[in-house]
Amino acid sequence: MNVSDALANRYSVRGYKPDPVPEELIREVLDISRLAASGTNTQPWHIAVVSGDARDRLRDELCELFDAGTPQSSGFERNATMESPYIDRRRACGFGYYETMGVTRENKEGRLAIARKNFEFFDAPHVAFFSMPSNFVYPQAVDMGILLGSMMLVMVEKGMGCIAQGSLAGYPEPVKEIADIPEDNEILFGLSFGFIDDEAHINTVRMDRVPVDEIASFTS
Ligand SMILES: Cc1cc2nc3c(=O)[nH]c(=O)nc-3n(C[C@H](O)[C@H](O)[C@H](O)COP(=O)(O)O)c2cc1C
Repeated sequence: MNVSDALANRYSVRGYKPDPVPEELIREVLDISRLAASGTNTQPWHIAVVSGDARDRLRDELCELFDAGTPQSSGFERNATMESPYIDRRRACGFGYYETMGVTRENKEGRLAIARKNFEFFDAPHVAFFSMPSNFVYPQAVDMGILLGSMMLVMVEKGMGCIAQGSLAGYPEPVKEIADIPEDNEILFGLSFGFIDDEAHINTVRMDRVPVDEIASFTS
């Protein structure tokens, strides 16, 4: 599989088999992903992988907070002001997902149940938390994104599925309690991963992309 194939085959996986990924394979994915570029080779990233009992305990704590309607907070600013066309794309993403799951826009309970799945890690057996020192800013966040993108492609190559989750930065306390996160770091996002459940209906969702001429310009 080449990089173009990996990009074409990747999608956000929201249904997983329960089988754990051998730690050796997870380490191999990280060993390749760490070759990602970063500004002045800072490598600002830390990845905390949570599996097994720790993953179950964390899921329970996060779901408890979500069910209680606890407001989310995060170590890094997460909410950009968003206008058209970006807000339209964001809405289309949510609605495409709800529609596949048979949940109407008016069905608040149904939408909440779907949002909750983030904190259940979409049943993935593993979740990784990506953090960087809390005083770092946008250039380092770019580096974090490059690592994330690289890791998602390596996982595709290795026959795994994954989903990046900004939502997993929303309740940092239990994550810091259970996962091994460096003391001065804050969480940017999570990545749930495992082997894909090909029978899961939710995995039929595909998000489209705008064409090149809408995202690029060429001057000579
Ligand atoms: C940084 C980042 C954060 C994301 N956070 C979430 C999330 O919290 N929950 C979720 O269901 N999807 C999340 N996604 C997945 C996006 O919705 C998804 O990548 C996008 O709709 C394109 O679909 P695709 O990945 O299937 O191609 C996130 C993606 C990225 C890159």
